Amino acid sequence: MAIAIDRGYLFRKDNTQLGHIPGGYGMPYIGQTLSLVNDPYPFLKEQYDRFGPISKMRLTGQNMILALGPDLNREITTDSQQLYSNRMGYAGVAGDFFGDGLLMQDFDEHRMQRRIMQTAFKTASLQQHIFHINEITSRHVAGWPADQDFHFYPAIKHVLLEIGARVFVGMTQQGEIEQMNTAYLGMANGLMSIIRKDWPGLLYNRAMNARHVLENILAELIPAKRVGDGTDMMSFFARERKEDGEHFEDSVVVDHIIFMLLGAHDTTTSALTMASYYLARHPEWQERLRAEVFALGKPHLEYEDVSSRLPNLENTFNEILRMHPPVPQLQRRTVRDSMLGGYEIPADTVIALSPLFTHRMSEFWEDPHRFDPDRFAAPRQEQKRHAYQWVPFGGGAHKCIGMHFGGLLFKCAMFEMLRRYRWRLPVGYPETPGIMHFPFAKLKDNLPLQFTPL
Ligand code: HEM
Repeated sequence: MAIAIDRGYLFRKDNTQLGHIPGGYGMPYIGQTLSLVNDPYPFLKEQYDRFGPISKMRLTGQNMILALGPDLNREITTDSQQLYSNRMGYAGVAGDFFGDGLLMQDFDEHRMQRRIMQTAFKTASLQQHIFHINEITSRHVAGWPADQDFHFYPAIKHVLLEIGARVFVGMTQQGEIEQMNTAYLGMANGLMSIIRKDWPGLLYNRAMNARHVLENILAELIPAKRVGDGTDMMSFFARERKEDGEHFEDSVVVDHIIFMLLGAHDTTTSALTMASYYLARHPEWQERLRAEVFALGKPHLEYEDVSSRLPNLENTFNEILRMHPPVPQLQRRTVRDSMLGGYEIPADTVIALSPLFTHRMSEFWEDPHRFDPDRFAAPRQEQKRHAYQWVPFGGGAHKCIGMHFGGLLFKCAMFEMLRRYRWRLPVGYPETPGIMHFPFAKLKDNLPLQFTPL
């Protein structure tokens, strides 16, 4: 049954009164931001051990509740009482960057827009996209330099940005792709800015300027997309009509595409980078995947291969998403007073969920800090102990709409890499390199690798 939501929650400030919730706020203003960002697991584990599944914390000036563990993941993401707003949960961290993107929509409006976008992610569309994904990936991967140090992260990011520009925006000219991607990267850099003021010289100000450039580039494309017959996602969305028969406003189309660009590449770039690192550390796994890829006997992956014919690659993908979830923290804000985990939670309280912590809980995972893709294979299937212990794509109404597309990108890129090269870390590479977890997991040194052609 639909629940009537008073839209007043959109105009109220965050509730900051959390005196009755266990825990503390750390340093003035920044709170525990540095502990969480620099080394999240020990911080989260300490919160859990000292205070239990519900505690409070402060991140970049925002007081919030930290809700840990699979039961709370389920209760909050499935949101059977329509209590939790995404828009207000993410307003502080990402609102200015992804204003009206799908993730930022709430309740009925979200349901309507998601239904429209869903078609773009159905099998028939993905089957079309795989052609572009294979062409772009193999062109780039074939050109990587052999037997010398080469930084993997920027290289794979470049590949996925080009795929995003092709599949989401329909761009084919290198010049326009570069221009759009430069603006996108300028904007995305601002996601980690601590001082969110539009003052000249600040990172945030540069990011906002880049966002305006990106908005203009995309907005100029809309009139042609509305009347054309393009098969890219932007054309599709520009042609869609709302329930009142009108097209979506230009700004809504632009915001959806900007968020898609983020979804399309930052998350999967992270997964591919972390996977390439672990496969360099575990050459036995690299060989196992290579054997699986060659056993398929094809030069490129076809859509049908992706879901069922590469079980070891699938388990590796799952294991990487477990160890280093590209989206390490989800956020919501309560729209009414409610109860959670035995505590009264006032309206307008921000709540953070942590896939990163849940994925390392020893109650659910054997030796959770170890890279062990077989934990996902029969008969072990550790992920089945609780439906919400493995949540790299979230859950409920906002569960990642691009999860199959992300899997497709990951597998196509790995397929090309495994077929063409054997790779390793440079001599003397540190045993425990620095890993950055926010906003998306990656090696701090951008992962130098040496590729040897087969
Ligand atoms: C490994 C790859 C990916 C991971 C780990 C990932 C993770 C996530 C997560 C955790 C959410 C839910 C956030 C929340 O509930 O607060 C989400 C939502 C979303 N993702 Fe992904 N994502 C991935 C790939 C993609 C791709 C490739 C696309 C686009 C093609 C995409 C587009 C979206 C969109 C549009 C939403 C919002 C859905 C909604 O609110 O209804 N994601 N993603």
